[in-house]
Amino acid sequence: MIFYFTATGNSLYVSKQLDEERRSIAQAIHDQNKHYSYEKIGIVCPIFGHEVPPLVKEFMESSVFETDYFYMILTYGNRHANAAELAEKLCKKLNIAVDYINVILMVDNFLPGFDMEEQKKIDKHVEEQIELIRQDLKERKEWIMPATKTDREAHEEFLSRMKKMPQNDVLHAYHITKDCIGCGICEKICPKGCFKVEDQKSNQDPKGCIMCMACIHACPTKAIQMNMPEKNKNARYRNENISICEIIDANIQK
Ligand SMILES: Cc1cc2nc3c(=O)[nH]c(=O)nc-3n(C[C@H](O)[C@H](O)[C@H](O)COP(=O)(O)O)c2cc1C
Repeated sequence: MIFYFTATGNSLYVSKQLDEERRSIAQAIHDQNKHYSYEKIGIVCPIFGHEVPPLVKEFMESSVFETDYFYMILTYGNRHANAAELAEKLCKKLNIAVDYINVILMVDNFLPGFDMEEQKKIDKHVEEQIELIRQDLKERKEWIMPATKTDREAHEEFLSRMKKMPQNDVLHAYHITKDCIGCGICEKICPKGCFKVEDQKSNQDPKGCIMCMACIHACPTKAIQMNMPEKNKNARYRNENISICEIIDANIQK
């Protein structure tokens, strides 16, 4: 069984390659009884700021996993730093006996940092990476991606940069332009249910926003834009093997 979280499809694509049985974390987080018992349990999710996204942490913190083999696969686009080590620490804190943590380099969907048109052109050998991980999981390999001193320093440097940022930056991360046609895709694709369409216009309540960027990448008229500078305001991304309906199905809050 894989529990996954995805904003633009990378982590869902990886999950689909690794297990037929899957649950979306954006929905499983609402389960009344979060006691899960399976022979193998995996978590597949993107890396946010070298860490597991807050939604995934919250899910792990509120769940009990009963399994012989627990693994985590973290998708990232540019620099994983000490993400695997931090994920291992999280597991230890939660008394989860983790057997395997690995990372997969894919398209980086972080718009302030990357131009999606450029990203899409780079061959990151995703299939080869997935195949190696598939073999490891089949053999129930016990391995945690090691971190170097440079990895840890990169994360420390990132954290001190974040501390200097105004606290309300996340709350005011996006704005919706007059190009909004009120299609409602953002309302359906947001894993936190932050959008509401009224009178043919979408409005975001930024309180619950986890800045996953599912909404901004999925908006068909590019009417959702970041408040901080983007590398290319006209370029958006969705994993080429995943449909918009699959991401909506994974994230919709009923
Ligand atoms: C808020 C945010 C933070 C991110 N932080 C990192 C990061 O620290 N390192 C990195 O390499 N990629 C980072 N990324 C890129 C994603 O981890 C990567 O594109 C991932 O594969 C997206 O998965 P998804 O399509 O399943 O959402 C970040 C993306 C977002 C939206």
